[in-house]
Amino acid sequence: MSEIKLPFSGPALITGASSGLGEEFARRLAALGFPLILVARRENLLRSLADELTARHGVKVEVIPADLASEEGIVKVETVLRERGDIVLLVNNAGFGAGGSFYRIDMTLQRNMIRVHVEAVARLIRAALPSMVERKTGAILNVASVAAFSTPPKSAMYSATKLWNVSFSRSLAQGLRPKGVRVQALCPGFTVTGFHDTPEYATSDGVPIPRFLWGPADKVVAASLKALRGHKVIVIPGWKNKVMARLARMPFATAVVRRFTRKVA
Ligand SMILES: NC(=O)c1ccc[n+]([C@@H]2O[C@H](COP(=O)([O-])OP(=O)(O)OC[C@H]3O[C@@H](n4cnc5c(N)ncnc54)[C@H](OP(=O)(O)O)[C@@H]3O)[C@@H](O)[C@H]2O)c1
Repeated sequence: MSEIKLPFSGPALITGASSGLGEEFARRLAALGFPLILVARRENLLRSLADELTARHGVKVEVIPADLASEEGIVKVETVLRERGDIVLLVNNAGFGAGGSFYRIDMTLQRNMIRVHVEAVARLIRAALPSMVERKTGAILNVASVAAFSTPPKSAMYSATKLWNVSFSRSLAQGLRPKGVRVQALCPGFTVTGFHDTPEYATSDGVPIPRFLWGPADKVVAASLKALRGHKVIVIPGWKNKVMARLARMPFATAVVRRFTRKVA
């Protein structure tokens, strides 16, 4: 993987780098020699990852502790992006799940999801883009989900915010390709990370997920970075996830899958 050459070089900013896919992006990009800026709320995890990556790969790694559900947190990261003007890769990865019927989930939690998955993503892209366009290089990588292609009754807000990422990325990509800036909406399926162990996800009353549908984070990140060498906008890593994304668009298949997953312990 470390032999993959990306078509740009310079500092990369990754949100949600304290765990899971974000941490894996940090590890892969550090191995490729990218200086990093890591964003998340858990500063201790960011700092120990930064120390480890600097020691192992000799790259400069900075950390920004920030809650992207808060105005203060978003402004902090926006300001860094705008003032530095040298970021070549923005990975909008921070996110969380909160399964359950919409009317049962606390509205503050749902509003926070809109802030982290939509508002922060849009504002960080807006802050990062002018310098990328001016230098005719760089990439925006938005972590969406295969859930974007389905309409699960137990995670209406989650799938809707992820669909926003897919749609927004598609539109941005059309306008930015002639300017030399790549845009990707990465759509993973069930991936082994901290996602399903967070306090937010603990509210879920969704169905258990069959074991064969899970995949590792390193494969997701490898597929995403490989695709960044080209101009593919919607990246669905792994054949199982591609099948799931297709089935999700067929109401009959969705009903069958829902019935089946309800029976899995
Ligand atoms: N795992 C899956 O099955 C799966 C499938 C499809 C898509 N995804 C997407 O993949 C992305 C990464 O999730 P993951 O699976 O790697 O889960 P994870 O291990 O729980 O990582 C989530 C990251 O987001 C950060 N984060 C959450 N809320 C935040 C906030 N308010 N402000 C700043 N950072 C915040 C967390 O850091 P702190 O807690 O330290 O703030 C953490 O670093 C998410 O966008 C998720 O929706 C995951």
